[in-house]
Amino acid sequence: MIDAIWPRHAERLPDGGLRLGGCDARSLAAQYGTPLFVVDELDVRSRAAEYKAAYDHGDHPFEVFYASKAFLTVAIARWVHGAGLGIDVATGGELAVALRAGIPGEQIVMHGNNKSRAEIEAALEHGLRALVCDSLDELARIGSIAAERGLVAPVMLRLTAGVEAHTHEAIATAHEDQKFGLSIATGMAAKAVDQALGDPHIDLRGFHSHIGSQIFDADGFEIAAHRVALFMADMARTRGYVADALDLGGGMGIPYVDGDDPLDVAEMAHRLRAIVVRECSSAGIAVPRLSVEPGRAIVGSSTVTLYEVGVVKQVQVSDDFVRQYVAVDGGMSDNIRTALYNADYTAALANRVSHATAVPSRVVGKHCESGDIVVNNLQLPTDVRAGDLLAVATTGAYCWSMASNYNNLPRPAVIAVRDGASRVLIRRETAEDLLARDQDA
Ligand code: LLP
Repeated sequence: MIDAIWPRHAERLPDGGLRLGGCDARSLAAQYGTPLFVVDELDVRSRAAEYKAAYDHGDHPFEVFYASKAFLTVAIARWVHGAGLGIDVATGGELAVALRAGIPGEQIVMHGNNKSRAEIEAALEHGLRALVCDSLDELARIGSIAAERGLVAPVMLRLTAGVEAHTHEAIATAHEDQKFGLSIATGMAAKAVDQALGDPHIDLRGFHSHIGSQIFDADGFEIAAHRVALFMADMARTRGYVADALDLGGGMGIPYVDGDDPLDVAEMAHRLRAIVVRECSSAGIAVPRLSVEPGRAIVGSSTVTLYEVGVVKQVQVSDDFVRQYVAVDGGMSDNIRTALYNADYTAALANRVSHATAVPSRVVGKHCESGDIVVNNLQLPTDVRAGDLLAVATTGAYCWSMASNYNNLPRPAVIAVRDGASRVLIRRETAEDLLARDQDA
């Protein structure tokens, strides 16, 4: 391992090469082409196993559901399920992949703030563990679709606890103004409980709370758990409704660049458990069945994107500042996170050693847009040139899953590496794939 940012089975070779899962990145690029998502299979499997071990034990075990929106292929679903995790899906498409992977419906939870009739029907048909619902409108729809089929739909209500990750109690009401969740503060959540309890085709299993993503400490969870526990106590007192299940969502952060320092898995698990147990006990309720839904933390660090460098250019930014622009053969169509969230990444040459001076650089893509930036700010040697292989770390979460065909660029292949062997998980798209749906082609 190089450091925490790179996959667990990444090694730097003396000649400047990069070995991933025992495979030389140069050979992978030659064999499969670039851009290329290279997934370290054992990294994903081991992180999934660590989450299982850290959360699912003791008096108050947490079940772990993998938030598949982060990165989903049939193989990835099988790896995480093999480590004992369930799967969280947010659409019928994600459900189709999870089912194809052989995940039993009972171990799948369905999210989504606007599920289609077909998605609700599929969830009921396949006996999913729960549909997580966050509107009165959809709650009624789920009830009526279940009624048509003579079924009772298992539902969890997604609560808005009014917490923005990274904030403190004083300003923790800031996040009411967004589309997700049923607000505890405004009474909407209580209304949903009443509606669910009054609907014979809804089986209200409990509550869900997700406070954000890329969270490095347990503070935000603490406030959310406090408010959710008080709400559960209120529902028990005023409605006689005792929730069976509580899901605290995902959001556990990972390091992308030096200086990122999230709590480790065991420590986070320990803190979350302590928080829930304390808050439930002070609210006077029994601890419900618990679960969490990490996405990024399971897959984020497993994957490296390999690009080939094309054009390099020096841009005189100001009188005394030149930035080196290094254009690669992908861009915002395979990693939208930099443009969308100003995300930071770590990158390195993966084909040779360079002894040239490192200068302020920016890795950009090949799209017709100035915001097409892959790595905003990094140091690269002055002799970077066409044909070099550049590896961008930590691209496992929300890169391939948010990839697009902007500029009709075919999406990259996804390959898995393990113990010196590689195999294709998702083949590279071709121009023919892009034309296949064009009815005039
Ligand atoms: N559970 C729910 C209900 C969620 O909405 C999410 C993420 C997760 C779990 C998993 O969160 P994670 O553990 O991966 O942070 N596209 C953004 C992230 C959006 C996350 C959306 N929901 C990004 O690229 O950073």
